[in-house]
Amino acid sequence: MCQLPNSIPDPNLLVGIETSDDAGVYRLNDEQAIVQTVDFFTPVVDDPFSFGQIAAANALSDIYAMGARPITALNLVSFPIGKLDKRILAEILRGGQAKIEEAGAVIIGGHSIDDPEPKYGLAVTGLVHPDKVLTNASAQAKDYLVLTKPLGLGIITTGIKRGIVAQEDESEAIRIMSQLNKEASIIAQEIGVNACTDVTGFGLLGHLHEMMKASGCHAEVFCGEVPVIQSAWACLEKGSVPGGTLANLDYLKQYLAGDYDSDWKIILGDAQTSGGLLLSVPENRIELLVNSFKSRGLDMAVIGRAYLGQAGKIFIKNGKMI
Ligand code: CO
Ligand code: CO
Ligand code: CO
Repeated sequence: MCQLPNSIPDPNLLVGIETSDDAGVYRLNDEQAIVQTVDFFTPVVDDPFSFGQIAAANALSDIYAMGARPITALNLVSFPIGKLDKRILAEILRGGQAKIEEAGAVIIGGHSIDDPEPKYGLAVTGLVHPDKVLTNASAQAKDYLVLTKPLGLGIITTGIKRGIVAQEDESEAIRIMSQLNKEASIIAQEIGVNACTDVTGFGLLGHLHEMMKASGCHAEVFCGEVPVIQSAWACLEKGSVPGGTLANLDYLKQYLAGDYDSDWKIILGDAQTSGGLLLSVPENRIELLVNSFKSRGLDMAVIGRAYLGQAGKIFIKNGKMI
């Protein structure tokens, strides 16, 4: 996106393409701004209904990462019409529809093309109060860093493609990828956080790096606090590492410091599909936030802290946070 020429400045454009945030935000009036995003990809699991659910949860995630409420969505479909059974496409769309409904939004149209490789995703529009936009660029010194889904999804989906993942472990990964970031986003808005983004293809380290860099901060992350899906370790042992994960780590190497083992580096850098939210939470609100997640039975972990200076740098520590 950085190849685009600079556009004419527009006072209503609140978040544009310059800050590598999750979605664009455009002010309509004093009370409302629209948030727009689009995401689509090739199947990450075999079951078409599950793939549709995951693709929709992933597309919605950028809306939630901005603290917004999704209202409408458009389907984007590539499908080898005439080669694959049309019932497969119907199942993909049914999965997407189910998640959009769960989100309280509505599908109002879409577009499909004939393509040898199936792809599915959505363009989603959300609404947010112009003063309540959550960006990735405003973390503050001493903030606590919170992650709302466990890591390892890229490693596991690569394992699924290689046929080395047991059925129950695949089901667990599908459950996590299909889970909406809706409640996490609502809690983040209710309690008040300084910064928010979702963890997707750039991995925890990549998205955390972007957040810290844009905020003029560096981060400490404690491996002993980071939640990991158990089966990811077994996949990793069998050499199941996505190309995107290695590319992330190569790009980030100048920003990473600390002494940690190489398996942890791969887990932390792993390219996620439909991962959780990464929140930067002020010191005086962290207890409220943790309690709010707990009382609703939602997963979350406090994985580290932000500090002023050395913008974008991440210090990885073994063990637990003291
Ligand atoms: Co995002
Ligand atoms: Co994005
Ligand atoms: Co996205």
